[in-house]
Amino acid sequence: MKIAVFPGDGIGPEVTAQALRVLEALPLKVSLLEGDVGGIAYKRHGHPLPEETLVAAREADAILFGAVGDFDCDHLERHLRPEQAILGLRRELNLFANLRPAKVFEGLEHTSALKPEIAGAIDLLIVRELNGDVYFGEKGMRKTDAGLREGYDIMSYDEGEVRRIAIAGFEAAQKRRGRLCSVDKANVLETSQLWRDVVIETHADYPDVELTHMYVDNAAMQLVKNPGQFDVVVTGNLFGDILSDQASMCVGSIGLLASASLGERKTEYGTFGLYEPIHGSAPDIAGKGIANPMATVLSLAELLRHSLGQEELAQRVENAVAKALADGIRGGDLGGDSNCAEIGDAILTRL
Ligand code: IPM
Ligand code: MG
Repeated sequence: MKIAVFPGDGIGPEVTAQALRVLEALPLKVSLLEGDVGGIAYKRHGHPLPEETLVAAREADAILFGAVGDFDCDHLERHLRPEQAILGLRRELNLFANLRPAKVFEGLEHTSALKPEIAGAIDLLIVRELNGDVYFGEKGMRKTDAGLREGYDIMSYDEGEVRRIAIAGFEAAQKRRGRLCSVDKANVLETSQLWRDVVIETHADYPDVELTHMYVDNAAMQLVKNPGQFDVVVTGNLFGDILSDQASMCVGSIGLLASASLGERKTEYGTFGLYEPIHGSAPDIAGKGIANPMATVLSLAELLRHSLGQEELAQRVENAVAKALADGIRGGDLGGDSNCAEIGDAILTRL
């Protein structure tokens, strides 16, 4: 089994190191392919996603990704900025389905930004489209006829793109509680009207799943009012980006949320995918050794599940994290004082 490891910027290397300790403790024969991504890759190779990184990515069964983002690089032209590494990998590797589970761990109801009785009911999965929308449409800067500077980003989805993510949503719902909520803005956007039409058409193949629709503004409201109502949420790239950060605060900390980005390519053991914590590079705490590695360890569990076909090991890793939390292990993000390596130790002990 080959895993490409791209630690990236900021706290990426710290949290990835702890996830690798967990991986090494598992009874698996794995070879690691290392690669640079993001600001560090720009500094070393002149590009946020160097060719050799892409080669390693294509050779692997799965990618464990840390984070990208570096204030030093914010002045660069957009195609050279660190974020282009993750966007480039998603696009080049056709990783169109982003699964972002959000569940409140037992004992953490009080760390949520919501009232504990509301937070305790959260157990949802956001299925975010990852290859289209305003992220990848035509974009640029131009001058209006009146000579004003104008920025633009085109939002579009074709029906094939909507259908494949709708299928991912329905299939995820079948494996969970059988409910899918499609989030759009069909009252205003043509892109969303097509989205809704195609999701309804696709539903014909999944009569066992209960389908509902919600406008994105209402979804943002419902996510704090009554998040327990959601099972699987399927949505576009931009709406999914925003709602998944919101969901993380409902859960208690962005330091706990894992993600899996999957495409269609099958490997010997499962589906090829990229796995990353959703928190990003957190430059304010980078290098201090205080980041919470749990989201990355939980991303490793998703990697074991989807790309390596190791459901049992995935659950072992998840249980070890849950046990550490239940035993009161807390990083600074949860108001505790365990540092990155101590949290890694705590997970390993329970594993
Ligand atoms: C995420 C991040 C990325 C995104 C950034 C880093 C480009 O916010 O994975 O949610 O917007 O998709
Ligand atoms: Mg985001």
